[in-house]
Amino acid sequence: MASKPWGGRFSKETDKTVEQFTASVHYDVRLAPYDIEGSVAHCRMLAKQKIISKQEAAKIIRGLTAIGKEIAKGTFPLRAELEDIHMNIEHRLIEKIGAVGGKLHTARSRNDQVALDTRLYLRHEIAGIERLIHGLMTALVKKAGNEMGVVMPGFTHLQIGQPVLLSHHLLAYCEMFDRDRERLSDCTSRVNRMPLGSGALAGTSFPIDRRYVAKQLGFEALTENSMDAVSDRDYIIEFMACASIIMMHLSRFSEELILWSSSPFSFVEIGDDYCTGSSIMPQKKNPDVPELVRGKTGRVYGHLMGILTTLKGLPLTYNRDLQEDKEPLFDTVDTLKGSLTVFTGMISGLCVHGERMEEAAGWGYATATDLADYLARKNIPFRKAHEITGKIVKHCIRTGQELSSLSLHEFKKFHLSIEKDVYDAIDLRRSVSARDIPGGTAPARVRARLLALQRKLDKDAKTF
Ligand code: ARG
Repeated sequence: MASKPWGGRFSKETDKTVEQFTASVHYDVRLAPYDIEGSVAHCRMLAKQKIISKQEAAKIIRGLTAIGKEIAKGTFPLRAELEDIHMNIEHRLIEKIGAVGGKLHTARSRNDQVALDTRLYLRHEIAGIERLIHGLMTALVKKAGNEMGVVMPGFTHLQIGQPVLLSHHLLAYCEMFDRDRERLSDCTSRVNRMPLGSGALAGTSFPIDRRYVAKQLGFEALTENSMDAVSDRDYIIEFMACASIIMMHLSRFSEELILWSSSPFSFVEIGDDYCTGSSIMPQKKNPDVPELVRGKTGRVYGHLMGILTTLKGLPLTYNRDLQEDKEPLFDTVDTLKGSLTVFTGMISGLCVHGERMEEAAGWGYATATDLADYLARKNIPFRKAHEITGKIVKHCIRTGQELSSLSLHEFKKFHLSIEKDVYDAIDLRRSVSARDIPGGTAPARVRARLLALQRKLDKDAKTF
């Protein structure tokens, strides 16, 4: 009854349905390169500490390297009855180099091994995701630079509020993605701690050197409590929370692109290469890419809720429930990477209809606030200025006019202090330029922020 690596104390074979039910190798095979990297570092440490001999270590490392090649080539036999990738690799190692392969697992448990592998995997993936965010921000900054002069309506409640620069709107997303990157790199500092040596839960009695393993694998620090290290998955939850926030930002942006590309808006056109058609309506060009990004956001949120729920009732330390962390983690990584990649391409090819945006900015009395501000500058209390402007707007709605089409004579009926310079105050471009404070939409401010972002992106690109 010893066909399983843990089969020693069993007298009955595992039921086939149980084997299938408990197996994870069909998905945790993704951890294989990290499992091998971690095992090589562990093995070198065992030899350095004289827990195994140098010759034994060399043999094990050669075996592991050969297995790594088999996995890369796709010739590695994945066996569900060996549960997970860790036991598959160990079994194959013994098959290849003989009983000495069984020494690799000295001073180690699958509990600290799996925590090590997921940390190595996640650290690698987060670095890639940070690069993808960098790419998206670069595309946004470029688009914002190219469309610098375009004025569009800024909305609150999806009602026209005040005119803004399209570049200001685009850079608003750039700021969000900038914080998203910051959050990920902060999360990395907690992912990047080395759990090996925690053993099953209580540590190990072998004289291991955890720092040496950490150094080989590029970890910043060691986990400080063996029980914590094998049982918590907060680093995964934290990553999934970061991923959910990124997807939320992408989803809001998606919603705007869907709206902006609909014919009544016609603010933008998404490239043909990023749209799909309808099987029945020949005229249709559908924004499926932003729709799917919006849709997939729900699935990433779901994974976050799922893992929080998986963990909430678990006693210390390791419980098999924790195996359920992998599929949602992998799917979150794939969904996020896919969404960021298509989004970047879509933004680069986005065609902006500047005249149409500017035309829309002229509707809906977008410069009414500027008129109220104009009156307030004439020493009328802002509340009163707001009321007078409200009356002017009401008059315009009733008579079907724009603010700028009122004569000075008509303006003066509402307040005598209104002079000819009111037309400047309610001019769209003047309105935008007037918002000349840090963070405002005045072209000079937007250009300055754009340059600062550009410089930051150039600097970050050197670290890749
Ligand atoms: N496949 C397992 C997981 O992902 C590895 C750890 C198994 N440990 C155990 N005590 N059964 O969690």
